[in-house]
Amino acid sequence: MSVRLSPVLAGLGTYPFVRLEQARARLRAAGVDIIDFGMGEPREETPAFIREALAAAITPLAPYPSAVGLPELRGAIAGWASRRFGVDLDPDTEVIPTLGSKEAVFALANVFAGDVVAVPTPSYPVYDRGALFAGKAVLELPLKESNGWLPDLDTVDWSGVGVLWLNYPNNPTGARAPLEFYEHAAALAREHGFVLASDEAYSELYFEGDPPISALQIADRSHLAVFNTLSKRSSMPGYRSGFVAGDPDIVAALKKYRPNVGVAPLEFVQRAAIAAWTDEAHVEAVRERYRAKREALLPTLEALGLRNAGGDATFFLWLDAGPDAEALAARWLEAGVVVAPGSFFGAPGYLRVALVPPPEACARAAEIIRGLG
Ligand SMILES: Cc1ncc(COP(=O)(O)O)c(C=O)c1O
Repeated sequence: MSVRLSPVLAGLGTYPFVRLEQARARLRAAGVDIIDFGMGEPREETPAFIREALAAAITPLAPYPSAVGLPELRGAIAGWASRRFGVDLDPDTEVIPTLGSKEAVFALANVFAGDVVAVPTPSYPVYDRGALFAGKAVLELPLKESNGWLPDLDTVDWSGVGVLWLNYPNNPTGARAPLEFYEHAAALAREHGFVLASDEAYSELYFEGDPPISALQIADRSHLAVFNTLSKRSSMPGYRSGFVAGDPDIVAALKKYRPNVGVAPLEFVQRAAIAAWTDEAHVEAVRERYRAKREALLPTLEALGLRNAGGDATFFLWLDAGPDAEALAARWLEAGVVVAPGSFFGAPGYLRVALVPPPEACARAAEIIRGLG
């Protein structure tokens, strides 16, 4: 008798990006030079001072790390949130470090009651996957350009909802959310008793005007959990370091849940994370790199009539390509320029361009795309 998979695992379709991977392998074998704007995976070097902090923290004794994290790291995170958003967080009761943010995003649906998880569409797929593996139903909340890529919270039936996911600056659209929207969502969370989960992984990547705000800035943080990460801000995706901050009751629930799972962040990574959260100069440099990539590519795309339909934040361009979106992505793919069709995110007619290749490669891609016309 063969092994029997969990019905949730067995029922999952092929992750759309796997299809891109297959195409990439075929093109590579045919000798095509690939410039990959498909996956949103940062490929910038981790700053030297962070790598050095990690190396200096490796000691002969390596005890199990604790799920609540080092007090110094929680303090560094609270200090960053205070400087960046002007909010006061108690490092002992309102902050918990995580192993990157993906695992914490995935696990959240296990921690709170409610049979339904409300998830925006299009969105980062892990909200959905986490809900399904926790045995919950997913309630899709469509994001529309006409509404600034914000879900319409006033038409939702909240019965049974345990968690509402929001993600601004948004993957894939690059849109931001205003404070009134967070205030409204939080008021609904308090009224209906669900957790408002705000994934702010891209809060530090923006290219116009004021820095994006955080849901932490709302007046009453009860029912709120904010997720952030060093993966994008500090180019540390491989370190796996993030945090959850917000309502002390939610943080207490995570402190109770997380030791069961074995997701305590490694101590030497936490030491490197302290260095990263206490420095802004490297984040400014990262923003400038992404700005250079945007400027190398966006004018060419706009000249071709592809409107940037999203916002000015994150490292994604969200292009309105109309009914030709899939065909255009396929044509660029054959020429070695890989982008993700919006259909991967449930939004046909758009293209998502992750500005992760180096600026020179972005300029080269612009030339290739111009050549294709
Ligand atoms: C919207 C969003 N949230 C969370 C993450 C997870 O990042 P990490 O687990 O590296 O912190 C990503 C990564 O791509 C993302 O796009």
